Amino acid sequence: AAAQETIKIGLILPMTGPFASTGRQVSAGAKTFMAMKGDTVAGKKIELVIRDDAGTADQTRRIAQELVVNDSAKVLAGFGLTPLAMAVAPVATQAKIPSVVMAAGTASITKASEYITRTSGTLPQYSLPVGTWAAANKIKKVVTLVSDYGPGIDAEKWFTKEFKAKGGEIVEAVRVPLANPDFAPFLQRVRDAKPDAVFVFLPSGAGSLFMKQFADRGLADAGIKLIATGDVTDDDILNSMGKPAIGTITGHFYATAHDSPENKAYVAAFKKANADMRPNFMSVGGFDGMALIYAALEKTKGDVTGPAFMAAVKGLSWTSPRGPVSIDPETRDIIQNIYIREVKDVNGELQNVEFQTFKDLKDPEKADA
Ligand code: DHB
Repeated sequence: AAAQETIKIGLILPMTGPFASTGRQVSAGAKTFMAMKGDTVAGKKIELVIRDDAGTADQTRRIAQELVVNDSAKVLAGFGLTPLAMAVAPVATQAKIPSVVMAAGTASITKASEYITRTSGTLPQYSLPVGTWAAANKIKKVVTLVSDYGPGIDAEKWFTKEFKAKGGEIVEAVRVPLANPDFAPFLQRVRDAKPDAVFVFLPSGAGSLFMKQFADRGLADAGIKLIATGDVTDDDILNSMGKPAIGTITGHFYATAHDSPENKAYVAAFKKANADMRPNFMSVGGFDGMALIYAALEKTKGDVTGPAFMAAVKGLSWTSPRGPVSIDPETRDIIQNIYIREVKDVNGELQNVEFQTFKDLKDPEKADA
């Protein structure tokens, strides 16, 4: 028999540096998919090639080129932060290489190349429902506090748009640096503005220091409620945040505690392979990125060339550990439920407990255009 053809998937992630938790979670999620579903699809063997860009866009672009030219990778995937995903767009377009964003969340990323699709989510998609929830729950005045780059700007814009449309008032908009932030001076500004709540976006991993400084500065004692995107109460670090995190309300697409048979199976397989580490939303972006690649290859009967693969991606749907998802044929972004959650102590572990669902949301940034 002829040797089975291998399809290489280049997974480019920050495996070291300040965003290493993203790389660890996404790669573990992708590997969990292959452990559960096997390493062959449509008669082809799938091989993951994991490369570390250390969170630096120049490296992401160089590694993407090397993977395509030297290693004959047919699909690129991963991309832990918006600037890293953006750096790959020209490579994807020029080489017609399908590229699956498993982590980054700025809405405009999928507009940067016809060959980009996404299995994480967009900040507009999961910030808007937090605005809906806040306005419906006696919150009148809010200060926004976001990381000063793509996803933060998107979160600020869409929370604000929705909250104001429903009658809320934004009293101040604070932007904090992405690199090595010290939140203390910014939290003092929030405190002085005396809002009912502060709405926060920070990238995965940054929530621990924020939560500590939020508690130390006495904002909760001053009656300021913390509402956020689920990136802040990331399940990877939530349990170590302790009491100050309890009661935080967030909006996001995945919680480890999501109650479904698909998620129970996923969490069990993930924990078994990763020394009991909790899978967070980043890991599910990796898991579903592989689900998308397998489903597209089944549809094309193994044809991994760019145009055929991207045509197959459009309109795919499946049941994820997060709930039902599909790929918007117009935008190549993911359509998914967004859940409003509250941090609670559940049998001695802090969990994001879902209590309200906004069903089948598209990226509102594109719906608007
Ligand atoms: C991005 C990074 C994150 O860690 C996150 O939680 C959301 C978005 C980004 O850079 O797009």
